[in-house]
Amino acid sequence: MPLGADILPNERLMLAMNYRGPFRVRVDRKPYPEILHPGDAIVRVTRSCICGSDLHLYHGLVPDTRVGMTFGHEFIGVVEAVGPSVEKLKVGDNVMVPFNIACGQCAFCRQELYGNCHESNPQATAVGGIFGYSHTAGGYEGGQAEYVRVPYADVGPTVIPEGMDPDDAVLLTDVVPTGYQAAEMAGIQTGDTVVVFGAGPIGIMAAKCAWLFGAGRVIVIDHIEYRLEFVRNYANCEAYNFRSLEDPVLFIKKTTDWLGADVCIDAVGCEAAGNALQTITGRKMLLQAGSATALHWAINSVKKGGIVSVVGVYGPTDNLVPIGNVVNKGLTIRANQASVKRLLPKMIGHVQAGRLNPKEIITHRIPLEEIAEAYHIFSAKRDNCIKTVLIPPSARI
Ligand SMILES: NC(=O)c1ccc[n+]([C@@H]2O[C@H](COP(=O)([O-])OP(=O)(O)OC[C@H]3O[C@@H](n4cnc5c(N)ncnc54)[C@H](O)[C@@H]3O)[C@@H](O)[C@H]2O)c1
Ligand SMILES: [Zn+2]
Ligand SMILES: [Zn+2]
Repeated sequence: MPLGADILPNERLMLAMNYRGPFRVRVDRKPYPEILHPGDAIVRVTRSCICGSDLHLYHGLVPDTRVGMTFGHEFIGVVEAVGPSVEKLKVGDNVMVPFNIACGQCAFCRQELYGNCHESNPQATAVGGIFGYSHTAGGYEGGQAEYVRVPYADVGPTVIPEGMDPDDAVLLTDVVPTGYQAAEMAGIQTGDTVVVFGAGPIGIMAAKCAWLFGAGRVIVIDHIEYRLEFVRNYANCEAYNFRSLEDPVLFIKKTTDWLGADVCIDAVGCEAAGNALQTITGRKMLLQAGSATALHWAINSVKKGGIVSVVGVYGPTDNLVPIGNVVNKGLTIRANQASVKRLLPKMIGHVQAGRLNPKEIITHRIPLEEIAEAYHIFSAKRDNCIKTVLIPPSARI
């Protein structure tokens, strides 16, 4: 019997991550979620992850991140309850839940732009709702908890195929489709040289997926040695530490006959290191919305007429980005939140066929109760951490 099932639903409590302010998170008892809309489901979480996107929240860089919020947009679990209008899910189903909250019916969802749903986030027009991602992404509670309310339950949640490892399944809710979409948006042609900035989970997956599109050469840039070492083996690519290069842009030009890479992927986003001016103005003084160093490097090291694919997260407000170089080089910039639901069937196929092995990037599995330590390890890139899975107590029985 689930925790507290013998008392009235609104008196039931559950364990959940609780944001207290920048660099301060803990686990608390919070009210068990309720069905608020006939299309909702309640899911008992069996695994959730911490994402690089959660670090932007944790570091206090995302506007309207309210104290008391539960983060977590990558999770799988078991359906505990469904609202009266839910037709496709039933109690007991084992589901993976895409990080995007999508209505399935608006003009953008109908184009399979599930990350850009026009209905699920009344707080903004740019981005759709995202679980546990501040009130700028709708204010929904996240999955770093024992239970979570899942709106539009007939749209996002997908039954985990028989035999699929739950560790693979939880990475299908964000990391795998995001890495894949990064490579897809880059329009990779057979034989292309692909440069990926960032060797976190997203960059690692983008590098791996670049080969699926026919890349001829894949280069990853980061400054954390253990991650470079990991991606070299996992994605069978070249990997370089930008701290040991005089200038990463020059290095990429030199290694591509001075033409530039065919495509560049930004899998870093608004907390990029590597440029003191960007770091001070963007991450310390908040005069711009984070630091866009990786995006600079991507724009400056891609060839003329090339494509820059951006999955690294940036805020809605200004960043110092070299737009003149974009114009003068004739670049195409493609960017988005990944459309997880659109890609899930294909991603399931790649995992089942063994072409993608997502669970191999998991380095840490930590009880939900130890969330403060889990965030600290991932944020400080300690202990060779790449991807952390949180396991709630009810999933450990
Ligand atoms: N678009 C989407 O749908 C989507 C989904 C998930 C994550 N994201 C975003 O993708 C980005 C990466 O996520 P993650 O989970 O891999 O995060 P992460 O923090 O684990 O990894 C980021 C990596 O970038 C490296 N880095 C820092 N500055 C760099 C630079 N100038 N050049 C190259 N590498 C640099 C860091 O050392 C780190 O290894 C984040 O911004 C995250 O918010 C986007
Ligand atoms: Zn994520
Ligand atoms: Zn929609």
